[in-house]
Amino acid sequence: MEKIGRNDPCWCGSGKKYKKCHEAFDEKLARMERLGCLVPGRELIKTPEQIQGIRESAKINIAVLDYVAAHIGPGVTTEEINRWVHEETVSRGGIPAPLDYQGFPKSVCTSVNEVVCHGIPSEDEVLKEGDIINVDVSTIYQGYFSDSSRMFCIGEVSPEKKRLVEVTRECMMQGLANVKPWQPIGNMGHAVHAHAVKNGYTVVQEIGGHGVGLEFHEDPWVSYVSEPDTGMLMVPGMMFTIEPMVNMGGDEIYTDEEDGWTVRTEDALPSAQWEIQILVTENGAEIISY
Ligand code: MF3
Ligand code: CO
Repeated sequence: MEKIGRNDPCWCGSGKKYKKCHEAFDEKLARMERLGCLVPGRELIKTPEQIQGIRESAKINIAVLDYVAAHIGPGVTTEEINRWVHEETVSRGGIPAPLDYQGFPKSVCTSVNEVVCHGIPSEDEVLKEGDIINVDVSTIYQGYFSDSSRMFCIGEVSPEKKRLVEVTRECMMQGLANVKPWQPIGNMGHAVHAHAVKNGYTVVQEIGGHGVGLEFHEDPWVSYVSEPDTGMLMVPGMMFTIEPMVNMGGDEIYTDEEDGWTVRTEDALPSAQWEIQILVTENGAEIISY
């Protein structure tokens, strides 16, 4: 990190003098690092200007998910959801981040029942009463990224599936409640896992959350099967997703060999996922996209 004079403008672009802005923060970070903590680099600390841009991106992401919520139901195909997401994003000036991301062919991920994540929308996939589906929307707006997903129950679903969907949401909220500045991120993932296990479920280990904002996927990689006191410190200005994948049966998963994307549970039992994008603050966390 380059040396900044105490009276120079702060690196965060606030316009304040460094000594009145991030000097104490940088000193604390350096102290924690000397104590052996894994600390985020400055590129992971969002500036006020970046946070504003990401909030604007998230407004679109939230509006698109609201649109899906208002129109989804039995008889809708996942390809229709893809069209909605594409059109609602573009009409608001955004770009759907999944489209062409590492070759992903559509503008949204739609994951039905035993599909864990990264399901590809299809004209042949018709939603029917009793299905549960995750719709994962990600938006680029003026270079800023937002990412969140919700579950939808199609018509009347079984009590078992409904409970999975509800508990998975609670897992995510447990994660949110355990975002505490200057604490290791493993504490957050541990709380998510504990809530799932308490309810008789398992949590996918191989796929997790991620830093987000200036890129689709930034550091840190975020596990929801983690031990307390492990992983990177959560520091004010960091942004990441809380997006646990919770399985009704075992935690084993596999990726479809034909399409290279669709992830399913090995035992074909249902899986659920909710995702929020959060900003670490001085007091805890603020939800940026949901
Ligand atoms: N939205 C997913 C996430 O939460 C990423 C999907 S990558 C894609 O990280 F290419 F499948 F869209
Ligand atoms: Co994500």
